[in-house]
Amino acid sequence: MLQVDDIRAGYDRLEILQGVSLSVAPRQIVGVIGPNGAGKSTLLKTIFGYIRPFSGRIALRGEILNGYRPDKVMRQRVGFVAQANGLFAEMTIQENLLLGGYSIGNTSAVRHAMEEVYERFPLFRERRRQLAGSLSGGEQRLLAIARSLIIKPELLLLDEPSAALAPRFIDDVYATLRKLNAQGIAMLVVEQNTGVILDVADRVFVLEMGTNAFDGTPAELLADDRIRRLYLGSEAA
Ligand SMILES: Nc1ncnc2c1ncn2[C@@H]1O[C@H](COP(=O)(O)OP(=O)(O)O)[C@@H](O)[C@H]1O
Ligand SMILES: [Mg+2]
Repeated sequence: MLQVDDIRAGYDRLEILQGVSLSVAPRQIVGVIGPNGAGKSTLLKTIFGYIRPFSGRIALRGEILNGYRPDKVMRQRVGFVAQANGLFAEMTIQENLLLGGYSIGNTSAVRHAMEEVYERFPLFRERRRQLAGSLSGGEQRLLAIARSLIIKPELLLLDEPSAALAPRFIDDVYATLRKLNAQGIAMLVVEQNTGVILDVADRVFVLEMGTNAFDGTPAELLADDRIRRLYLGSEAA
């Protein structure tokens, strides 16, 4: 569904991604791990169109996305949940969800999608007039995920969905992601929490200093001594 070939991208002339390739098949969950500063967020921002790649190719269902801006990428049914949620704390839950549909413009489609989101997350219907900033950290992460569903994505890009959450909220977030995936949404998930992503991913890519360092199944990653030592350390069971 998503094919990234040898992309180079960065900020101004500074090249952060120095030839990165990866792919996501329909219905797959694909993880991206790697040290801080490796370029994981830059990779997601490039796929979503916040950053224009210097070279290389990003294709979705065979259609080249290079140069598409985020609203156009969203209309191709690609959703994005940013590292810092990207919620508006001073706006209500309902207003935040409505913003998820800005790229569609068609209000009846947005209303229909809102209804589906409220069915999936009854808590957000009950509290729709509350400010997003009044939610707990875990609830805010779920709201950011809920908002990404308004465009009915076939592919979701998620930047560290477990970051800064207590274990029980990480479980909530990943239970939600698993359900969405079971309903057919493919996912490209950047994670610092290697254990949690190895548990759900069909495939894992390791990014080091802007380039691919490993690509394989979670089982293959666990069998690779260097990679396992670096990314699982004492976490390894
Ligand atoms: N807006 C920006 N302008 C310039 N450099 C940036 C910007 N955002 C990130 N970088 C740099 O790009 C590199 C990769 O960052 P990032 O993609 O956020 O890594 P990761 O998500 O893997 O921690 C880092 O060296 C970071 O300092
Ligand atoms: Mg990051």
